[in-house]
Amino acid sequence: MIGRLNHIAIAVPDLAAASAQYRDTLGATVGAPQDEPDHGVTVVFIDLPNTKIELLHPLGEGSPIAAFLERNPSGGIHHMCYEVEDIFAARDRLTASGARVLGDGAPKIGAHRKPVLFLHPKDFNGCLIELEQS
Ligand code: CO
Repeated sequence: MIGRLNHIAIAVPDLAAASAQYRDTLGATVGAPQDEPDHGVTVVFIDLPNTKIELLHPLGEGSPIAAFLERNPSGGIHHMCYEVEDIFAARDRLTASGARVLGDGAPKIGAHRKPVLFLHPKDFNGCLIELEQS
Protein backbone atom coordinates (compact mmCIF):
# COMPACT_ATOMS: atom_id res chain seq x y z
CA MET A 1 0.00 0.00 0.00
CA ILE A 2 2.65 2.57 0.92
CA GLY A 3 4.79 3.84 -1.91
CA ARG A 4 7.68 6.27 -2.12
CA LEU A 5 9.22 7.98 0.89
CA ASN A 6 7.97 11.50 0.21
CA HIS A 7 9.95 13.23 2.95
CA ILE A 8 11.54 13.02 6.36
CA ALA A 9 10.67 15.91 8.65
CA ILE A 10 13.14 17.33 11.16
CA ALA A 11 12.02 19.74 13.88
CA VAL A 12 14.64 22.48 14.23
CA PRO A 13 15.10 25.18 16.87
CA ASP A 14 16.57 27.69 14.36
CA LEU A 15 15.13 27.49 10.87
CA ALA A 16 17.56 29.96 9.29
CA ALA A 17 20.59 28.20 10.77
CA ALA A 18 19.34 24.76 9.73
CA SER A 19 18.56 25.99 6.20
CA ALA A 20 22.01 27.54 5.88
CA GLN A 21 23.63 24.33 7.14
CA TYR A 22 21.85 22.19 4.56
CA ARG A 23 22.59 24.70 1.78
CA ASP A 24 26.16 25.70 2.62
CA THR A 25 27.62 22.77 4.56
CA LEU A 26 25.74 19.84 3.03
CA GLY A 27 25.41 21.44 -0.42
CA ALA A 28 21.68 20.73 -0.83
CA THR A 29 19.00 22.59 -2.79
CA VAL A 30 17.05 24.44 -0.09
CA GLY A 31 13.71 26.14 -0.70
CA ALA A 32 12.26 29.29 0.85
CA PRO A 33 10.40 29.15 4.20
CA GLN A 34 6.64 28.56 3.85
CA ASP A 35 4.22 29.39 6.67
CA GLU A 36 1.56 26.72 7.18
CA PRO A 37 -0.80 28.33 9.70
CA ASP A 38 -3.29 25.44 9.51
CA HIS A 39 -0.56 23.11 10.78
CA GLY A 40 1.17 25.54 13.17
CA VAL A 41 4.52 25.27 11.42
CA THR A 42 6.89 27.05 9.10
CA VAL A 43 8.50 24.59 6.70
CA VAL A 44 11.57 24.60 4.48
CA PHE A 45 11.84 21.89 1.86
CA ILE A 46 15.16 20.47 0.80
CA ASP A 47 15.23 18.56 -2.47
CA LEU A 48 17.37 15.46 -2.58
CA PRO A 49 17.65 13.18 -5.62
CA ASN A 50 15.48 10.46 -4.07
CA THR A 51 13.32 12.26 -1.48
CA LYS A 52 12.88 15.52 0.40
CA ILE A 53 13.76 16.76 3.84
CA GLU A 54 11.22 18.99 5.55
CA LEU A 55 12.61 21.33 8.21
CA LEU A 56 9.86 22.24 10.70
CA HIS A 57 9.72 25.18 13.06
CA PRO A 58 6.79 26.19 15.31
CA LEU A 59 4.46 28.91 14.01
CA GLY A 60 2.04 30.68 16.35
CA GLU A 61 0.55 29.53 19.64
CA GLY A 62 -0.05 25.87 20.35
CA SER A 63 2.12 24.55 17.53
CA PRO A 64 2.08 20.74 17.46
CA ILE A 65 5.87 20.70 17.37
CA ALA A 66 6.49 23.14 20.25
CA ALA A 67 6.33 20.34 22.85
CA PHE A 68 8.58 18.15 20.70
CA LEU A 69 11.24 20.88 20.65
CA GLU A 70 10.90 21.33 24.41
CA ARG A 71 11.73 17.64 24.82
CA ASN A 72 14.41 17.79 22.09
CA PRO A 73 15.92 21.26 22.35
CA SER A 74 18.54 20.65 19.68
CA GLY A 75 15.91 19.29 17.26
CA GLY A 76 15.20 15.80 16.01
CA ILE A 77 13.44 13.62 13.47
CA HIS A 78 9.74 14.39 13.85
CA HIS A 79 8.00 12.22 11.25
CA MET A 80 8.37 10.43 7.95
CA CYS A 81 5.93 10.68 5.08
CA TYR A 82 4.97 7.80 2.81
CA GLU A 83 2.96 8.23 -0.35
CA VAL A 84 -0.29 6.34 -0.88
CA GLU A 85 -2.43 6.26 -4.02
CA ASP A 86 -5.78 6.60 -2.23
CA ILE A 87 -5.78 8.25 1.18
CA PHE A 88 -9.33 7.20 2.05
CA ALA A 89 -8.65 3.56 1.18
CA ALA A 90 -5.44 3.74 3.22
CA ARG A 91 -7.26 5.23 6.21
CA ASP A 92 -9.99 2.59 6.08
CA ARG A 93 -7.47 -0.25 5.87
CA LEU A 94 -5.45 1.18 8.78
CA THR A 95 -8.41 1.80 11.07
CA ALA A 96 -9.79 -1.67 10.27
CA SER A 97 -6.46 -3.10 11.47
CA GLY A 98 -6.66 -1.11 14.72
CA ALA A 99 -4.20 1.70 13.92
CA ARG A 100 -5.14 5.13 15.21
CA VAL A 101 -5.39 8.09 12.85
CA LEU A 102 -4.69 11.39 14.62
CA GLY A 103 -7.35 14.08 14.80
CA ASP A 104 -10.85 13.42 13.51
CA GLY A 105 -9.66 10.99 10.85
CA ALA A 106 -10.42 13.33 7.98
CA PRO A 107 -7.49 14.08 5.68
CA LYS A 108 -6.13 17.64 5.87
CA ILE A 109 -4.42 19.51 3.08
CA GLY A 110 -0.68 19.29 3.71
CA ALA A 111 2.31 21.41 2.78
CA HIS A 112 2.29 20.09 -0.80
CA ARG A 113 -1.43 20.94 -1.24
CA LYS A 114 -2.29 17.25 -1.17
CA PRO A 115 -4.42 15.35 1.38
CA VAL A 116 -2.48 14.01 4.36
CA LEU A 117 -3.14 11.95 7.50
CA PHE A 118 -0.99 11.24 10.55
CA LEU A 119 -0.85 7.89 12.34
CA HIS A 120 -0.29 7.45 16.06
CA PRO A 121 3.42 6.85 16.78
CA LYS A 122 2.63 4.29 19.49
CA ASP A 123 1.06 2.09 16.80
CA PHE A 124 4.16 2.32 14.55
CA ASN A 125 7.27 1.58 16.59
CA GLY A 126 7.53 5.06 18.01
CA CYS A 127 7.52 6.76 14.59
CA LEU A 128 5.00 9.43 13.70
CA ILE A 129 3.91 8.55 10.16
CA GLU A 130 2.36 10.94 7.67
CA LEU A 131 0.55 9.55 4.65
CA GLU A 132 0.24 11.78 1.59
CA GLN A 133 -1.90 11.03 -1.41
CA SER A 134 0.44 10.89 -4.41
CO1 CO B 1 5.45 16.14 6.61
